[in-house]
Amino acid sequence: MYVRKISLKNYRNIERLDLELKDGINIFYGQNAQGKTNLLESIYIGATGRSHRTHKDKELINFDENESHIRLEVQKNTIFDKIDIHLKNNSKKGIAINGIPINKLGELFGYLNVVIFSPEDLSLIKQGPQERRKFIDMELCQISNIYYYNLCQYYKILKQRNSLLKKLAKDNSLKDTLFIWDSQLVNFGCKIIKERCLFIEKLNSISQKIHKQITNNKEHLELKYKPSVLANEFKEKLEKNIEKDIFYTSTSYGPHKDDMLFFINNINARDFGSQGQQRTASLSTKLAEIQLIKEEKGILPVLLLDDVLSELDKDRQKFLIKNIKNLQVIITCTGVEDVLKNLDEKCNIFNVSNGKIITNSN
Ligand SMILES: Nc1ncnc2c1ncn2[C@@H]1O[C@H](COP(=O)(O)OP(=O)(O)OP(=O)(O)O)[C@@H](O)[C@H]1O
Ligand SMILES: [Mg+2]
Repeated sequence: MYVRKISLKNYRNIERLDLELKDGINIFYGQNAQGKTNLLESIYIGATGRSHRTHKDKELINFDENESHIRLEVQKNTIFDKIDIHLKNNSKKGIAINGIPINKLGELFGYLNVVIFSPEDLSLIKQGPQERRKFIDMELCQISNIYYYNLCQYYKILKQRNSLLKKLAKDNSLKDTLFIWDSQLVNFGCKIIKERCLFIEKLNSISQKIHKQITNNKEHLELKYKPSVLANEFKEKLEKNIEKDIFYTSTSYGPHKDDMLFFINNINARDFGSQGQQRTASLSTKLAEIQLIKEEKGILPVLLLDDVLSELDKDRQKFLIKNIKNLQVIITCTGVEDVLKNLDEKCNIFNVSNGKIITNSN
């Protein structure tokens, strides 16, 4: 799978862009604040309908404009798809696939699969559980449309349950209606727990092998799912904690509180791992993500590397480059020489300057 063309209009600091990309390595280099991450972000939005940096669509539209367009042409074996995203200042964004508008974001997933790797991802282990949940969800949504549906339903019901809890804090007479939300929350919650469990098991077995290679067999990595509650205990936990939930006006147990743990040689890497160990484990996990998409979807995703090579030492850089053959990679960096040093294949090189992109060489 690869993005063969990208067109942008009034997207952040990029006024207009029509650019052909190569199936292989594409490098965008330039000084700080020129538009490199903006470009990469627009590809991510084409795949997921959302930015990895903000949930406010308004921020994606050029400051002086009211609308913005992203168009991606995606080649998947012999199939060709066109993804259009129309961002508007005053209304919901419009998404069309091959010219036909879609109503639900979930319908977009799968047309373009991406794995994004930015300096923040190197801190996946150190960050809070919310970031790790986001990582699990974004990956699973791209793999399974049903997961996305269940997740949306779960959060919708959770919101309704929490707003009822607020009412109950003032007026207890509606307490009997809580069970309606609880049974639905358990229904969708259990589906999410099961899918997450299976996903982390698969990711674990792939990342373990990768991590062994990076560390020359010195480290054994283990990814473990830490559900807030087990599926078969969810209903009971909700019932037991009703008074507590009413007091805090929020739901204390459920997949919205899940986490994922990383163990290196049986030691919790979040608490005891060195920074280097944590970063290497994140790298192994990211590389495992690529392979898992290949296994689940039968196709390699597009890899978006945002300024991440400069964050890795030489050995890790080499390992990463060696392991990203056969897929389309979009790399952003400030110094192109450092990246080219490790590459032995031909790549597209673009210079990004003040929102404009200039093709350098082939
Ligand atoms: N909505 C917007 N309209 C116009 N310009 C914007 C908008 N949003 C962001 N920008 C500008 O886009 C510029 C480029 O941002 P970007 O994050 O792509 O930089 P970059 O080239 O990746 O830089 P770095 O190397 O520091 O990561 C920034 O100066 C920012 O102010
Ligand atoms: Mg950047």
